[in-house]
Amino acid sequence: MELSIINFREMADERGKLVAIENKKEIPFEIKRVYYIYDNKENLSRGFHAHKSLEQVLICVHGSCYVLLDSGEEKSTYLLDDPSKGLYVGNMVWREMYGFSDDAVLLVLASKEHDESDYIRDYSEFLLIKRRNK
Ligand code: TYD
Repeated sequence: MELSIINFREMADERGKLVAIENKKEIPFEIKRVYYIYDNKENLSRGFHAHKSLEQVLICVHGSCYVLLDSGEEKSTYLLDDPSKGLYVGNMVWREMYGFSDDAVLLVLASKEHDESDYIRDYSEFLLIKRRNK
């Protein structure tokens, strides 16, 4: 599946680099929630779900990790290893995050508050809904 990468503007000077992110400018939705994943245990994967309506942008602000996105028909893998790049993940996309480096910090910007009823955690249910909605 086609991946949507957001290139943030790096403000670089002799002191280092800075990236600024504002609602609805760099990010195509209003940010309602921010969370980050860190201190990842070796060889452990996360995610394994899709969201009915939530949109997210994933930014690996330190270190690196792989993200697998699956539309139900096509899969793509992306290595997030640059704090100036964000990976947009729309609704109804299955995601798995794996191969975290020891120092990885994965920042997630989300369009809604946490809501367990928005999750689809069963892959066959995900495929069923995708096929039904085609
Ligand atoms: P989980 O959904 O398992 O993480 P991942 O998608 O990365 O595999 O979330 C881990 C725990 O954190 C789970 O108990 C739900 C809770 N949680 C919140 O309370 N708020 C949040 O915004 C998120 C993403 C998770």
